[in-house]
Amino acid sequence: MLKYLMLYEDRGLDVVYAEGQYVWDSTGRKYLDMHTGHGVVFLGHRHPHIVKTLIEQISKIVTLSTSFRTRIREEMLDVLSKIVPNNFEYVYLLNSGSEAIDFAIKICRKATKRKKIVYFTKSFHGRTYGALSVTSSNSKYKEGFEPFLPETFEIRFNSIEDVDKVVDESTACVILEVIQGEGGVNVASEDFVKFVRKKTLEVGALMVVDEIQTGFGRTGYIWGFEHYGILPDIFTAGKAIGGGFPVSAIFLPHDIASKLRQGDHGSTYGGNPLACAAVKASTEVLVNEQVHLQAKAKGEKLFKKIRERLQNVRIVREIRGRGLMIGIDLRVTPGEVIKCLQDAGVLALKAGTTVVRLLPPYLITEQDIEFAVDMLEQCIVKELSGRYVSGSA
Ligand SMILES: Cc1ncc(COP(=O)(O)O)c(C=O)c1O
Repeated sequence: MLKYLMLYEDRGLDVVYAEGQYVWDSTGRKYLDMHTGHGVVFLGHRHPHIVKTLIEQISKIVTLSTSFRTRIREEMLDVLSKIVPNNFEYVYLLNSGSEAIDFAIKICRKATKRKKIVYFTKSFHGRTYGALSVTSSNSKYKEGFEPFLPETFEIRFNSIEDVDKVVDESTACVILEVIQGEGGVNVASEDFVKFVRKKTLEVGALMVVDEIQTGFGRTGYIWGFEHYGILPDIFTAGKAIGGGFPVSAIFLPHDIASKLRQGDHGSTYGGNPLACAAVKASTEVLVNEQVHLQAKAKGEKLFKKIRERLQNVRIVREIRGRGLMIGIDLRVTPGEVIKCLQDAGVLALKAGTTVVRLLPPYLITEQDIEFAVDMLEQCIVKELSGRYVSGSA
């Protein structure tokens, strides 16, 4: 009998069913899902509109090369245009976030004819060689896999000084997350993001914003860069954009897209009709349900309650985030708190080395928020004092 290669920790839970913001285990126990498969299920598990659209598409055509035209692709482009700033005239679909980042790196080098790529401390852009070359959130991810892409330079996140010193006329691009997810829910300062924009324009380098975790409404705007009033040259999206279906995207303006030729990239599955259907339906949900505004309002409530109840607890260093992307930075490793939360009926995940990360679906209710905050308080106080009371969702 084959065994599954476990490269993520086994959470010890047999999940048998999922709906909306909840999952159920094999004993029938219900959990509030604030893990959402590393943030993928932001629109909730099995959103009825996405399921219906996928079933309709599956009964017509599942897979086809993008060499052939399909109606679903046209429909997807039509809907997606509503949520993408006008100057991004092109989109290309891939299958995972890492692939979108790899393609972004290729495009930057080809379009600028330069080689140098600048990225930041605590960044996470994925596990393929290109994406891992610009990832620094955990040194373990890179250990033993060297060498990485040449001419990649790591500088300090939120350091205007470093950007000023390192980004120059030889730089192809600067790649950043406006809120670092995996690296610890670290919010980029406004001055920093604006400076990266200014400096890249000055030296003719491209600014790539990785919206794979922050995008599609999670932080309270459809795209995280909107918080800063800037437009990047290229941005990537993934996770939430398929409502659970594996798909990622890269958005480009005409002047960059025009530097690419047929054969410069490709993907057997990228942009298949099912992926187009998933993106189309997810975008319709985002637009029709004003998901980003719900994320903003619910995120503010959740953040406020967490702050009220936890900011004075001794082991809580800081509470950070925007919208429904929240990190509780502890003075201890977060493993025990995350385990305790799971026992109490809340699924959360780790970020950085000390952060409990919450990435709930936009569907969470007032009651879910109360429950999650109660359980967080219990678990963090238990971590402090060695005692907790378990609950249920
Ligand atoms: C900001 C960011 N970029 C890229 C990735 C990589 O995406 P994937 O795991 O789909 O390759 C992730 C995944 O967590 C991410 O959070």
